[in-house]
Amino acid sequence: MARITPLPPTFNKAHLHAVLPSVDHDEAARMNFTSSISAFVNTQLSPGVRLAYENDVQPASPAPQSATDIRDAMLAHPFYQTWAALRRNNQEVAKQIALDIAVRRMPQVNARAAALNAGKNTLSLDPELTPPEYLTQVENHCAPGGYFQQFGADDVTVGVAYEVGLWPVGMGSLGPAGEGGGRAAVKWIGERFPNFKPKRILDLGAGHGSNTLPLAEAFPDAEVVAMDASEPLMRYGHARAQAMGYGSVRFVQATIESLDPAVHGTFDWVHTTMVWHETSAQALREGFRRIHAVLNPGGVTTHFEQPNFTPDTKLFDQFLRDWDAWYNNEPFWSKLHRMDMTEELVAAGFERSNIVDGSAPALIPPGSYPSWSGLTGRHEHEVRTVAKAIGPGSYNGKGWYVFGAVK
Ligand SMILES: C[S@@+](CC[C@H](N)C(=O)[O-])C[C@H]1O[C@@H](n2cnc3c(N)ncnc32)[C@H](O)[C@@H]1O
Repeated sequence: MARITPLPPTFNKAHLHAVLPSVDHDEAARMNFTSSISAFVNTQLSPGVRLAYENDVQPASPAPQSATDIRDAMLAHPFYQTWAALRRNNQEVAKQIALDIAVRRMPQVNARAAALNAGKNTLSLDPELTPPEYLTQVENHCAPGGYFQQFGADDVTVGVAYEVGLWPVGMGSLGPAGEGGGRAAVKWIGERFPNFKPKRILDLGAGHGSNTLPLAEAFPDAEVVAMDASEPLMRYGHARAQAMGYGSVRFVQATIESLDPAVHGTFDWVHTTMVWHETSAQALREGFRRIHAVLNPGGVTTHFEQPNFTPDTKLFDQFLRDWDAWYNNEPFWSKLHRMDMTEELVAAGFERSNIVDGSAPALIPPGSYPSWSGLTGRHEHEVRTVAKAIGPGSYNGKGWYVFGAVK
C-alpha cells in the first residue's frame, strides 16, 4: 500500500520577529519546496534503500561486520546513489536559500539587531576568542559560512541563515520559533524534578537561543545564560531575544572548553540541545568535566540529542543514520552515536546512581500547526527508538534522546 507523505507545515507558520519580520512570497515558496522534498525523500524514498539492500545487495555480499561494510556494498547501487544525492542536494539548496534570504536583508537586519543590542549589558562578546578547529574546519550541515562568517562589523547574517535554514531540515517539527527542544526540556525537567527551582541556568552551545527562551519563560526568576562560541549567533540571538520580550536573558560568547566557575559562576541547571554531535570526543569529555565543575551540588545537567545506537540497533539502521557523517558535514555524528553517555558522565565525575537516560516527546505548541505536523522523522530509526522508549500513546512521531545527571 502506498505510504502517505505528511507534508510539513508551510513557512508562513514560522514565528518571525522584529529582527526578521517577514520573508516574501517567492522565498517562502522556496522554503516550502525544499521542506516538502525533505519529507518526500525521508518518507517515500528511504524505504527503497532498505529494499535495495535486502533484495539486491545483501544476497550478493558477505555478512557485514559493521555499518561501513553495508555502506561499501551499497555505494554502487543506483537507488542508494539517487537517494543519497537527493538528500545532499536538497540540504545544499535549503541552506543556500536560507543564506540568500539573509543576505538580501543584510543592511536592514544588521541595523535592527544593532539597535536592539545597543547599550545592553546582557550581551557579552569576546573578540579574542579562538573557536575550536572542529567547528571552523567544516561548515556543519552544509551551511555556507558555518557559524562564524561575518560580512562586516556587527554582522548577524549567519544567525538569520541559521534560523531560516532550520525550517526545511526540521520540516517544521522543531516548533514555529524553533523552540520545541527547549519546551520539551522544560516539560521533561518539570516531570522528573517537580520541586526543581533553578536560580541560574546555562544553555551551552545555545546558537541563536531559540531553545533557550522556553527555559527563561518557565523559570522567570532565574538568571538564564545562553553561551556559544559564535559571535554572530550571540549577537543575533541577543537581539532576537530582546525583540521577543526576553530582555533579561544573557548571551555570552565563550567556548565550552573555557567554561569555568571562576569566570562564569556556578549554575543549577546546565542544558544543551543538539550540540554534542558537532563537537569531538575530546571536546565532549572536556565539556562534561567542565559542566560538572560549574554545577552546584544538587544541580542538574540535561542534554537533548538524536538517539544513540543501542546494542540492538541493526547495522542497517546505523548505516542509514551515518549518512549525515558522510554527506552532511557532521564528522562527529557517527562516533557520538556509538558512545555510552552514562560512562562518559561517570568519567566526568558524576555518580552512576545520579545519571539520567531517557527520551522526551517533541513539544510543538498545540494549535500552531495542522494536526499531522511532526509526523515526519528524518530517520525511521530515530522515530522507532524514541517511540519505544516513551511508550505507546504519548508519542507524536518525533522525539529527543535525553541524557544527563544530577550532581
Ligand atoms: C546545531 S547548533 C545547536 C544550537 C542550539 N542549541 C539550538 O538548539 O538551535 C550547535 C551549536 O553549538 C555550538 N558549539 C559547538 N561546539 C562549541 C564549543 N566548543 N563551544 C561553544 N559553542 C559550541 C555551535 O557554535 C552551534 O551554535
